[in-house]
Amino acid sequence: MDQYAVVGNPIAHSKSPSIHAYFAQQTGQDLVYSTLLGDEVEFENQVRDFFEKDGKGLNITVPFKERAFAMCDILSQRAKQAGAVNTLMMGKNGDLFGDNTDGVGMVRDIIKNHGQSLTAKSILILGAGGAVRGVLEPILAENPESVTIANRTLEKAHALADQFDCLASSFEDLEGPFDIIINGTSASLSGSLPPLKDALVNAETWCYDMMYGKDRTVFLQWAHERGADGADGLGMLVGQAAEAFYLWRQVRPETASLVDDMRQQM
Ligand code: ATR
Repeated sequence: MDQYAVVGNPIAHSKSPSIHAYFAQQTGQDLVYSTLLGDEVEFENQVRDFFEKDGKGLNITVPFKERAFAMCDILSQRAKQAGAVNTLMMGKNGDLFGDNTDGVGMVRDIIKNHGQSLTAKSILILGAGGAVRGVLEPILAENPESVTIANRTLEKAHALADQFDCLASSFEDLEGPFDIIINGTSASLSGSLPPLKDALVNAETWCYDMMYGKDRTVFLQWAHERGADGADGLGMLVGQAAEAFYLWRQVRPETASLVDDMRQQM
């Protein structure tokens, strides 16, 4: 049976095996998807070994996405832009192909599952780390009116804004309201928020947090208290997996029902 796996460290709590098992069942595909604990020294050898043993595809997660990027012979345009790879497969002539499905997974979740358009919208993105770099190209492909990147370390916002031809700002200098705000900072992991002014949102603003949790995230709570609706990143997790599945199997699974199931089990 065709073998797939996700490599990361830590990896034990990865939801990817159950997500891909669900997709496989839903689409009638015969495959096995497991976890592989990435080794800090041996990562590249682990990847080569997997494909030498006829493995069909890997997902790559923290902290190996940049190392996977560096290993690839061929990269998709969106992986090049992201500087990171979350999906690997082997080409017919033995070339390692790398893609990044995080951004397109998020954008599809926003559009298809939440019914929000990004086209002609003013979009504020919080954060300028790897997570944000990975989603900028698919956001820009939707032709928003403007994209502003705000970050605690302003130089990083400027560097991304220069690369992707968008705007950069400190949190203090931001002037809202925005149509859409996307939180890509890792601040929520520790339950904190960047210093966000109330005037960034109004009741028409729609907020998306790349993080997700059982309870409403601190960012979505902040938005909710100011009358703004939104969604967390559980659908992004499922969405990036669906895009990887599509790349490997040429079948696009349906994601909304799985997100609902996972939400209920949290
Ligand atoms: P990731 O790969 O998850 O994006 P990262 O590259 O380390 O991780 O980036 C983390 C992002 O969250 C950065 O934009 C970081 O801001 P700095 O560039 O100024 O470090 C942001 N971040 C993390 N903790 C934060 C906090 N408490 N307040 C504001 N921004 C925070």
